[in-house]
Amino acid sequence: MSNSVSNSQAGYYFLQVPGPTVVPDEVVAAMSQPMMDHRGPVFAKLAAEAAQNLKPIFKTKQPVMVIPASGTGAWHASIANCLSKGDKVLIPEVGMFSTLWGKVSRELDLEVIEIAGDWRSGIDAQKVEDALRADTAGEIKAVFATHNETSTGVTSDIAAVRAALNAANHDALLFVDTVSSLVAMDYDHDGWGVDIAICGSQKGLMLPPGLAFAAVSEKALEAKKTSDLNPGYFEFDPLISATETGLYPYTPPVSLIYGLKKATEMILDEGLDAIYARHAKLGEATRACVNVWGLETQCQVEGQHSNAVTAVRVPEGINADEMRAFIFDKYNLSLAAGLGKIAGEVFRIGHLGYQNPLTLMGALSGVEMGMEAFGIKFKKGGVNAAMDILSK
Ligand SMILES: Cc1ncc(COP(=O)(O)O)c(C=O)c1O
Repeated sequence: MSNSVSNSQAGYYFLQVPGPTVVPDEVVAAMSQPMMDHRGPVFAKLAAEAAQNLKPIFKTKQPVMVIPASGTGAWHASIANCLSKGDKVLIPEVGMFSTLWGKVSRELDLEVIEIAGDWRSGIDAQKVEDALRADTAGEIKAVFATHNETSTGVTSDIAAVRAALNAANHDALLFVDTVSSLVAMDYDHDGWGVDIAICGSQKGLMLPPGLAFAAVSEKALEAKKTSDLNPGYFEFDPLISATETGLYPYTPPVSLIYGLKKATEMILDEGLDAIYARHAKLGEATRACVNVWGLETQCQVEGQHSNAVTAVRVPEGINADEMRAFIFDKYNLSLAAGLGKIAGEVFRIGHLGYQNPLTLMGALSGVEMGMEAFGIKFKKGGVNAAMDILSK
């Protein structure tokens, strides 16, 4: 697991960033198997089974493609396969990742209509509905919704976004970024009527970075027929057949696919509801701790706090990055940086993937001890509040 030493201290390394996350020993062992022929029958069977395991995880009966790329590659792939040059897309701004999704869209010649946000709350479904109602000519071809905004620790209600599309009687496709939500919180692809969901391997799926995923609806595949962008390497057709045959159009990352098979089996064995509940408890304990410290979370809306990551605002005059560097040196604990316009103002505690109450307690203790040693003014005892919740 992550018992190796990251800054030459003995003992457990606390990797508490919201991806890449800790990779379980069983997955590391699976990935350490010898190479095999990626066009042979043994690999084909294993790869097809791994892809089929993703369907219940996304809660879909449609294919879930495995794409050799990071999450950004899945943004690119889904746009390049299903949209066309000059298409308008509606993107509610919720933080750094929704903003980057807009950047990738512009690079691929889409026209982005952004619904401005404050980076402290989730998607306002009413504003989505209003924008779609105003689009009487039907020029908006897709809505891009980030389920869990990793930069701010804010989640959005995807069912409400779907309801907004329905209420406006608008035909746009619904794209959802599940990069840091999948497995950590309920995601229901078919139930919520999502057309394309994209994800990456390095977060809730407990794998190293390097694989991306795309779950597609029939409507998205219909839209693919008229797309005039060139997906090139990311062409969906052979990747969709690979979900059945296990045979890729190019050399796949064989070791990661060994790992994918193992990680998806572990997830299905633990059970999605049990995993969502585990994350909910870790999230609740983290927030109780931050609350006692007297610090603010970046998320300001009750009910929208992420169970995957908590972004904590540091007091005025403190540089969060200097504090994180100090804590890393002192305690071998990695916390994540604030991104974009909140860089230096927040640090983020990842609590997703292969985490349990004691790993979280270790991390929160490291933050509490580190803040004191760094000279931050706060109220001690947050870890006790977390413990109270975790021991219930
Ligand atoms: C919500 C979200 N979307 C997209 C991405 C981009 O994924 P990647 O860095 O794997 O390209 C990230 C990365 O952390 C993310 O958190």
